Amino acid sequence: MDIEFEVKYGLDGVAVAISSISCVDGEKGKLVYRGFEIEDLIQNSNFEETAYLIWFGSLPNENELDFLISMLSKKRELPNQIIEMMKLFPKNSHPMEVLRSVVSMLGMYSKKENSTFENAINLTAKIPTIIAYWYRIRNDLPLIKPKESLKHSENFLYMMFGKIPEHFNLFDKALILHEEQGMNASTFASTVTASTLSDIYSIITTAIGTLKGPLHGGANEKVLKMFDEIGSIENVEFYINNLIEKKEKIMGFGHRIYKTYDPRAKILKNWIKEIFINNNIKYFEIALKVEEIVVNKFKDKKIYPNVDFYSGILYNYFGIPKEFFTPIFAMARIVGWTAHAMEYCKNNRIFRPKAIYNGPKNLKYKEVKGVE
Ligand SMILES: CC(C)(COP(=O)(O)OP(=O)(O)OC[C@H]1O[C@@H](n2cnc3c(N)ncnc32)[C@H](O)[C@@H]1OP(=O)(O)O)[C@@H](O)C(=O)NCCC(=O)NCCS
Repeated sequence: MDIEFEVKYGLDGVAVAISSISCVDGEKGKLVYRGFEIEDLIQNSNFEETAYLIWFGSLPNENELDFLISMLSKKRELPNQIIEMMKLFPKNSHPMEVLRSVVSMLGMYSKKENSTFENAINLTAKIPTIIAYWYRIRNDLPLIKPKESLKHSENFLYMMFGKIPEHFNLFDKALILHEEQGMNASTFASTVTASTLSDIYSIITTAIGTLKGPLHGGANEKVLKMFDEIGSIENVEFYINNLIEKKEKIMGFGHRIYKTYDPRAKILKNWIKEIFINNNIKYFEIALKVEEIVVNKFKDKKIYPNVDFYSGILYNYFGIPKEFFTPIFAMARIVGWTAHAMEYCKNNRIFRPKAIYNGPKNLKYKEVKGVE
């Protein structure tokens, strides 16, 4: 066996790039995009402006922001052929399967002369349409066409439900929270694809496939499934202790980098708390009890709620079914994925790590007798 190299399972602690896009301080529980703390951005910014910041490195002036908003709002519609194909998809397809497949299909409909950035804008504009159209198609509802006059997140909720709900601005801010998060699994996977000089549609298809897993973005859907299984506050203790006894991972808890409260979970929890004062928000009390038990139990391991623990409660409040939670994550994170792909490729080197071989050696080929 090759013992020269140490294996870093999960690339724990390994740096694969130098980046100026975001900084995740896991000890202090801080998230910073391009020098701006996330708390500052959710207070003062919106999805489009933060996207500009992440892509270009500084906040836009009025003209620059108008230009980006107008580019995004004009590119929302999907080619007719794709809409017709979506109508033929099996109705029980998971929205993440549909998103992954349609993003891949869009590559065939993109203009070959487009720059990577134009394609990034094109996909960022179209992902909400894919999600909303699939919601309408699988529920046998007529499609609601995108409206150019509406902002990115407003337009998404409008295409889903035909109206813009109360507290919609919290949905927009939740997108800000999800736009970027350093070299997480899906960003890394998509950067690997980018490092082969593949196209942006392949890069984002890779990212969506990686985000889908329950250890990554897929956790938000699993959290709500867990709340449903728990059913009522009286069952929380028994349910969670049973998971702990079986050494199963509790969805929505733990993080490779955050060894304290994930700042995004803290923000989401506070928003929900504020709405909860006047409305009975489903799952919130169960969530608080789950958090209390898990945080107490795993104090030494420093396991706290992550972004996926509270985001689903907010989306559920807007009437969004749980299978659509991870696609919404993707709808925001495409900004980070594309920003990293473009940044890495400025100083590109193909990713090619190694695996240490521990299989047999020096075998000699022998014809297998008796096999026709
Ligand atoms: C996010 C996650 C994949 C990080 O994985 P990681 O950095 O490889 O951390 P590990 O799995 O090595 O965890 C370290 C220890 O904490 C425990 N742990 C981590 N997350 C846990 C969780 N959600 N529930 C119970 N125990 C957990 C592990 O069992 C391990 O214990 P051990 O040292 O006794 O073996 C992991 O915390 C997890 O699976 N969380 C649940 C899924 C989730 O919410 N994902 C969304 C992330 S934003």
